[in-house]
Amino acid sequence: MEVIIQDTYEDVSRLAAGIIARQLLRKPNSVLGLATGSSPIGTYRELVRMHREEGLDFSQVVTFNLDEYLSLPPSHPKSYRYFMNEHLFNHVNIPHGNIHVPYGHVQAVDDFCEWYEAQIQQSGGIDLQILGVGTDGHIAFNEPGSSLGSRTRLKTLAEPTVQDNARFFETIEQVPRFAITMGVGTILEARRILLLASGASKAKIIAQAIEGPVTASVSASALQLHRDVIVILDSEAATGLSRADYYRWAYEQKRQITDLRSERPN
Ligand code: GLP
Repeated sequence: MEVIIQDTYEDVSRLAAGIIARQLLRKPNSVLGLATGSSPIGTYRELVRMHREEGLDFSQVVTFNLDEYLSLPPSHPKSYRYFMNEHLFNHVNIPHGNIHVPYGHVQAVDDFCEWYEAQIQQSGGIDLQILGVGTDGHIAFNEPGSSLGSRTRLKTLAEPTVQDNARFFETIEQVPRFAITMGVGTILEARRILLLASGASKAKIIAQAIEGPVTASVSASALQLHRDVIVILDSEAATGLSRADYYRWAYEQKRQITDLRSERPN
């Protein structure tokens, strides 16, 4: 796990977008796993800027979103599909048919979940998965207690998640109680994972996820089992980490090595 601590949310967003852009340059038909929430908004904004100003190409990119509220159609302004259209899809040249977001209004939920998993497999698997983390440690909507081997399925939201997400709705009663979500097992199959967190409200759970024991009680702790995870935090989200000095030092050392290497002739 590589932990990178940046000063601000904007720094986190720029760094994350740079990693995604390099992935697309290396493999233009990359399969991206995408997240909603406030954590990746700045990253999407930066990707849109790179598309407009630097020609970053999404024409061969395939995407799979992590989750969607049950019963909200894609046209619903609070649906995750709507969020993705607003923040990314409407502003880059990704073909409509390459976009996958779970259908919240589906009737046969179990069949749909199986189909979604099969689509991920058929696309060759996720190359780079973007993640945020909930204050209860959920990744996607894998609430505490979710099996570390879980697959895409229907999940009941936990009370803190309903409270957290109430800010996006007019009243707390409007927050859906169920979601279709990729499982922890699905997420762990991505080749590379990028976890973003910022703000003091994430400090405690980030410390548990990164430095605590691997446990189904904190879904994000399962990322410790993955061979290629990059965690990018702003300074507030990093305040609970006991090894913060080491992460800062290690990142500085790595940058020096990378600079040295890139100065070498081919
Ligand atoms: C929601 C989403 C998660 C997201 C989390 C954190 O519950 N289902 O995928 O990571 O919120 O959101 P934020 O980035 O707004 O803190």
